[in-house]
Amino acid sequence: MPHIKLLNIVGARPQIIKASAISRVIRRYFSDDIIEIIVHTGQHYDKEMSDVFFDELEIHVPHYNLGVGSAGHGRQTSMMITGIEEVLIKEKPDCVLLYGDTNSTLAGALAASKLHFPVIHIEAGLRSFNKTMPEELNRIMSDHSSTLLFAPTNAAFKNLMAEGFRPENSPPYTIDNPKIYLTGDIMYDNSLFFAGLAEKKKATFLKNLALSINNFVLVTIHRDTNTDDIERLKEILVTLKTLAEENNIMLLMPLHPRTIATLKSKLENFYIELKKCSLIKIIPPVSFLEMILLEKNCRMIITDSGGVQKESHFFKKPCIVLRKETEWTELVNNGTAKLVDADPMRIRNEFVNFINSPVKLDYPGFYGDGKTAEFILREILLMFEKDK
Ligand code: UD1
Ligand code: UDP
Repeated sequence: MPHIKLLNIVGARPQIIKASAISRVIRRYFSDDIIEIIVHTGQHYDKEMSDVFFDELEIHVPHYNLGVGSAGHGRQTSMMITGIEEVLIKEKPDCVLLYGDTNSTLAGALAASKLHFPVIHIEAGLRSFNKTMPEELNRIMSDHSSTLLFAPTNAAFKNLMAEGFRPENSPPYTIDNPKIYLTGDIMYDNSLFFAGLAEKKKATFLKNLALSINNFVLVTIHRDTNTDDIERLKEILVTLKTLAEENNIMLLMPLHPRTIATLKSKLENFYIELKKCSLIKIIPPVSFLEMILLEKNCRMIITDSGGVQKESHFFKKPCIVLRKETEWTELVNNGTAKLVDADPMRIRNEFVNFINSPVKLDYPGFYGDGKTAEFILREILLMFEKDK
């Protein structure tokens, strides 16, 4: 097997979690073949948005932390590009691994492809078909800068084909002759791997929060469309509060700092009112093991997160999606996730349906066999075997 140097770029919470699936498999099976250099852009920096995952998921501390932090899209992305470019010039990796659709992904894709380092994109091909989402632009541009593209679902693979990518391309693969794969989802690998560990390591977590199994609803909200429009955010939360009271069920909300910041600065009185409600528990972001426990033991999930939507499926929970559209269309087609936008009537209808539903929902295996990271790393090594 060849000896390759792989630059693993992370920045936002979900990417750190995703990278743990890759790091774990490198350590376990490929430590003689792959040297992994971790670059953290610093897009997320609060302890509970970053360090907690490195500690808990046993990821190597980043070899580089660019410390970019929060800023507008242009400034944040350009600072990342500058920092990543410097690392690329110094490290001269064989390839650059990117996850998902954040500004860190886009910065990595632009910096690497312009310096002719092969880009490998995990979670390729996802599309919301809504280009007002910053993530949609990031995805499209990252995919079209990539040499190997790993699509996690049938829908994502078909999207790539519709954009002109061809599965029949043969090696050597380049940015002009990219290879697309249909794989599973590395987050499914992670959920399987960490579910048992979560039970062991966090045995008292639910009890400490006074939560009883199957008797609370897990809510996360962080998407810019929901947090930056305060009327919309308030309407969602008023609707949820009313539903909690009518159904006498606890809403547990580990909120992203972005959402807390909006509540504190723009909806101060309403935030106080929410905190007074005994059926609403707003807490800071939790660790991934804690999140798994919440997902596994809740009654239903309400979210605008991409990752949490999928995890609702892994843990067989109905999911209400606070968005107009989703990239994970198989969940909606399956009837176990419902798109409600921020419409109070739709939120109410789906909430009431799910909470009272006597029908046992079906959760087919859309996301692979739990060994997707292994498959991806073998394919990366194969590319270099042919090259060297
Ligand atoms: C980013 C991604 C989004 C992803 C999300 C995962 C982009 C364009 N968006 O959104 O796709 O779903 O990460 O969580 O890349 N903040 C803190 N502490 C932190 C990080 C952020 O307080 O550690 C606050 C800051 O006020 C910041 C705001 O959150 O301005 C937004 O952070 P940013 O990284 O720009 O976007 P996210 O909303 O986190
Ligand atoms: N997550 C977490 N703690 C939290 C909220 C989310 O560990 O308090 C995890 C969640 O389980 C999932 C990932 O973070 O694996 C999703 O990240 P996020 O919702 O921030 O972003 P998205 O997936 O929408 O890009």
